[in-house]
Amino acid sequence: MAKIFVARALPGDAIERLRDAGHEVTVHGGSMPPTREELLAGVADADGLLSLLTDRVDGELLDSAPQLKAVANFAVGCDNIDLAAAAERGIPVGVAAHVLTDATADLTMALLLASARNLPEGERDAREGRWKTWEPEGWLGRELRGAKLLIVGRGRIGQAVADRAEPFGMQISFAGRDDDLHAALAEADIVSIHCPLNEQTHHLIDAAALAAMKPDALLINTTRGGVVDQAALIEALHAGTIGSAALDVTDPEPPAADDPIYSAPNCLIVPHIGSATATTRAAMGNCAADNLLAALAGEPMPTPAPAPPSA
Ligand code: GLV
Repeated sequence: MAKIFVARALPGDAIERLRDAGHEVTVHGGSMPPTREELLAGVADADGLLSLLTDRVDGELLDSAPQLKAVANFAVGCDNIDLAAAAERGIPVGVAAHVLTDATADLTMALLLASARNLPEGERDAREGRWKTWEPEGWLGRELRGAKLLIVGRGRIGQAVADRAEPFGMQISFAGRDDDLHAALAEADIVSIHCPLNEQTHHLIDAAALAAMKPDALLINTTRGGVVDQAALIEALHAGTIGSAALDVTDPEPPAADDPIYSAPNCLIVPHIGSATATTRAAMGNCAADNLLAALAGEPMPTPAPAPPSA
């Protein structure tokens, strides 16, 4: 029997599966993440940790958990985890890979369509009395057929977005690590970011990248807020350097109520819901449970995190 700390109540049967396997599972209650103190206390005698993207798992935490044998993240991203610190201590880390590809690609298309056709503005105008008549020149959006969509990142989610965009008649290209990003940005009507956040991609979309984009370009971010220099994005939206943005992720999350991102023009913001379907969230829980159960049994995790850069 192992002790497992789960950093939040989860949908689906992940917690039940851990208990059915004979483990002693403590679940942090409430809708907010554990405070740092609660997290450190939770892992103090734990053999396994099921963390969320809101929990910072670093050297300090790992050192305060002398029994810890495995960390499973309830997310495909793992920028909340110091992978090198875990590797140094021989602690395997797992991620919820594969299972949220479709849900995140669907949400990307929802943001793309909503922004391209001005849905937030149209909805507000309809409800707030500005829909006076059928307007030949009102609420004009962007035609998708023939629009150039640049997908930044060459992973599964980017490919799933390409698969969805193709039937709309969009012209799709990809920019990976070794490509000339600024040249690709200059050509694109719509840019959708699908690379993980790490040292190489932090502020990948900075003021210079935004300046390279077309003045009517739409930038979509469903990966991590830190990939975009948010202050530069706010400035670019005000200056009209780019046309619009659709963000599922921000930096920080959530933004404070008076964060200038909320007053940036043409900026659609939703609260990090890329994987938010009941089916996907249950699958993410199962993925995390599979990773923990395997590691606690001394077996390799089915979906491990990528190796840290120095490994
Ligand atoms: C969500 O953002 C995830 O990384 O799973």
